[in-house]
Amino acid sequence: MHIGRVLITQEEIDSRVRELADQISADYADRNPILISLLKGGFIFLADLVRHITVPHEVDFITVHSYQNGFARSERIEILNDLKRSVNGRDVIIIDGIVDTGHTLSFLEQMLEERRVASLRVCALLDKPSCREITVPVDYVGFKVPDVFVVGYGLDFKERYRNLSYIAELIPAPVLAEAADPATAPKNEERTAPAKRNP
Ligand code: IMP
Ligand code: MG
Repeated sequence: MHIGRVLITQEEIDSRVRELADQISADYADRNPILISLLKGGFIFLADLVRHITVPHEVDFITVHSYQNGFARSERIEILNDLKRSVNGRDVIIIDGIVDTGHTLSFLEQMLEERRVASLRVCALLDKPSCREITVPVDYVGFKVPDVFVVGYGLDFKERYRNLSYIAELIPAPVLAEAADPATAPKNEERTAPAKRNP
């Protein structure tokens, strides 16, 4: 696995996150919403977003497991770590890193409706609309991305690459293997395996 082209730069993310925070601040004046971060992919987005939100709000975290291992998608979802506070009667905004098939969000929306939230909106940094298998409204979208696997800014591949400050495409290993011919192999150092060294 290697990092491919950068799809969204750090600067683009930064300015879009500020715009989203401005929109949320305008929409939720005097409402004290709870922002629920979907872990782990949404944690960096939430951390940056709340620093630009100017209205009173609370944060909470939820971890759901969608039985996926790397690229594979699945419809089976369970809660690994639940919210710490009641959402009954509260205005809730789900803060998600990426909406892909929509199954995770659909599951969460149903769960939060059952807990009788007053209102529910979704804010996702990235949206892959072409991959949707179930209809879920996303009220605040940072960027639409094509049907490629992306990493960075909180999003991982098998727990790696969350720390990148930009969003990049992940290149699957077999594609690189095909390009093993030195004439066509990528010259970028980032794309070659690092030399083995003692830490
Ligand atoms: P869903 O398919 O909309 O239910 O998304 C499930 C989860 O899959 C997301 O919350 C992400 O954690 C993960 N996911 C989907 N697409 C990507 C991707 O391109 N990169 C990293 N994680 C992804
Ligand atoms: Mg993941």
